[in-house]
Amino acid sequence: MDRLNAPARLMIVSDLDHTMVDHHDPENMSLLRFNALWEARYRHDSLLVFSTGRSPTLYKQLRKEKPMLTPDITIMSVGTEITYGTSMVPDDGWVEVLNHKWDRNIVTEEASKFSELILQSETEQRPHKVSFYVDKDKARNVIKALSEIFAKHRGELQLDVKIIYSGGMDLDILPQGAGKGQALAYLHKKFKAEGKLPTNTLVCGDSGNDAELFSIPDVHGVMVSNAQEELLQWHAENAKGNPKIIHATERCAAGIIQAIGHFNLGPNTSPRDITNFSDSELENVSASSEIVKFFLFYERWRRAEVENCEIYLASVKADCDASGILVHPSGAELPLCGAITGMRNYYGDKQGQQFRVWVDRVLSTQTGLDTWLVKFNKWELSDQHMPSHGCCKQDEPLELDLLRRVTNTSKATVMLYSN
Ligand code: GLC
Ligand code: MG
Repeated sequence: MDRLNAPARLMIVSDLDHTMVDHHDPENMSLLRFNALWEARYRHDSLLVFSTGRSPTLYKQLRKEKPMLTPDITIMSVGTEITYGTSMVPDDGWVEVLNHKWDRNIVTEEASKFSELILQSETEQRPHKVSFYVDKDKARNVIKALSEIFAKHRGELQLDVKIIYSGGMDLDILPQGAGKGQALAYLHKKFKAEGKLPTNTLVCGDSGNDAELFSIPDVHGVMVSNAQEELLQWHAENAKGNPKIIHATERCAAGIIQAIGHFNLGPNTSPRDITNFSDSELENVSASSEIVKFFLFYERWRRAEVENCEIYLASVKADCDASGILVHPSGAELPLCGAITGMRNYYGDKQGQQFRVWVDRVLSTQTGLDTWLVKFNKWELSDQHMPSHGCCKQDEPLELDLLRRVTNTSKATVMLYSN
């Protein structure tokens, strides 16, 4: 959160399953398009917040399976756990808030009287979240009966809860002050106190536990095209006619990109949608977008999606400063031009395979008149590591420290140093 010393230009608060992540797209194309857009044009002055129903355990599992970025803030367990940065430092102030009128034992005891409620796995039971499965056709009656019981407790005991139904099967019981919406309101309040309320906030969701996100004042919202009935119904009953909320025509992350364009929140062309970079306007040149472009070329080269032609390598080389050096986190140094020439040997070696490259946390600092130090993580997803159960595994991130120069002339020049 301290990374920015001014209000974020855009804060995206997005659900993961079936919103940022499309489980019906084995190519992960909309997610990869979003990633490239975010790193090239937003990461430096905006905030990415993931808000998921998953516990930390299942969230970390998803990160191993899908080509995801690292968010600035991670909200897990349906708004009951807020953590910051890569090391996921928990917000203890939020825990304090949630302890108010919450007694987990009473909740589990009362809920256990309902045979329709099937307890979810142990990992999904959290300090401020008790979760069950319940059939769609039984949900309404169970929720009504549970609410009546808890309403009695509200008078007698220190307990005030909220029941949320999502995905036509999940039932979560949380403290009344919890939930994805309340967690966002808490963050907004914190940012405001620091004078850093984001200029724009875009919330993105597909199911019941996302509904509260859309009722936070002043936010823009996108329900992705594949949104669940329960969210669309909530919208019809509570937010119809609100021009700041749209139901996208595109699925998942493509719907998020669509909303950025619809609400004019900033650039909405993903570098992945550009096939000929020499055509793209020069005013968009920045250290970050050069890094994104470079690794897109690298992916396309190895997948044989660009022609095997010396001119391409020569033009990538021409974009780099002749003395450039690539520095691996191990400390190993490689002349950049040599590394590009070496790519000749790799042409098409990933053809027909599931091979994707994406950069994460691309952050640049200007170190001279025309020099920038750019740090980022590079990830690769490849089916060469396919474990027996058939899902993909991500490589460990490769960290590269780069100094790069973008000249005022017609070509961007990259300069890489070790120190
Ligand atoms: C995620 C969680 C689950 C929760 C559901 C809906 O799937 O793993 O515990 O019930 O989201 O919020
Ligand atoms: Mg979802």
